[in-house]
Amino acid sequence: MYTDRDIAALARLIDKARRAVVFTGAGISTESGIPDFRSPGGIWTQMAPIYFDEFLASETARRETWRRRFAMEDKFGGAEPNRGHRAVDALVRRGKVGAVITQNIDGLHQASGIPPEKIIELHGNTTYATCLDCGERYEIADLRTAFERDGDVPPCDKCLGHIKTATVSFGQAMPVLAMHRAEQETLAADLCIVLGSSLVVYPAAGFPEIAKRNGAALAIVNREPTGLDRIADLVIHEGIGDTLGAAVGVN
Ligand code: APR
Ligand code: ZN
Repeated sequence: MYTDRDIAALARLIDKARRAVVFTGAGISTESGIPDFRSPGGIWTQMAPIYFDEFLASETARRETWRRRFAMEDKFGGAEPNRGHRAVDALVRRGKVGAVITQNIDGLHQASGIPPEKIIELHGNTTYATCLDCGERYEIADLRTAFERDGDVPPCDKCLGHIKTATVSFGQAMPVLAMHRAEQETLAADLCIVLGSSLVVYPAAGFPEIAKRNGAALAIVNREPTGLDRIADLVIHEGIGDTLGAAVGVN
């Protein structure tokens, strides 16, 4: 169990901060029922990631990517924000947090009420799809109807390009604007709060380190130890919901 000392220390860091940045990973959504990637039973312990070049090169890989996406819809489609998301939203509302940099693609930060302009999605968003060539937007439900009827998602009806969820796969270029905004918010912050990330996937995982090197305080709330624990000002290896919820006074 976390200690009251940890909660008081986290509350003090938040209190002292003029402008914090929150950096989240899959660990903030596990309490909403969505598995993370690297914990026991996590997604990458069940299946191998499909890299971007495979997606482009192989119809089989594209079909498997879509099969996984629709299967995920059935299992986690109804996921709701949890106490951890609500605590982050409270910090944004109080003007304590300038932006939430997230690696998550589940849209739960938006669902918790944080204005989209305050959310920076480094790995995109799986709630819609786009054509990789012309950028045309496609809705998941329409693609699923086609997939279930024809066994595959059709090519873009504007340019015949490949349609893919608006997420960033391994080997795919990072979103330039999101990366730029994340750097700006990181350099403007005097506190970086990491919530639920193993901090192993770069360049995303570089931002908390940049914040710390830039003079910000660094707090990490993560069940497992991370590679940045050694340079953090505060590390709490406990559940996010209870910990941040108690520090922020949110249920
Ligand atoms: N409270 C606190 N920590 C938690 C909780 C929780 N309720 N649930 C899980 N965690 C921790 C785990 O201990 C783990 O260290 O969250 C961390 C999640 O790490 P990962 O599963 O590696 O997820 P993440 O860091 O977001 O992965 C980064 O990898 O596969 C890519 O694109 C994918 O965005 C993802 C990126
Ligand atoms: Zn197109």
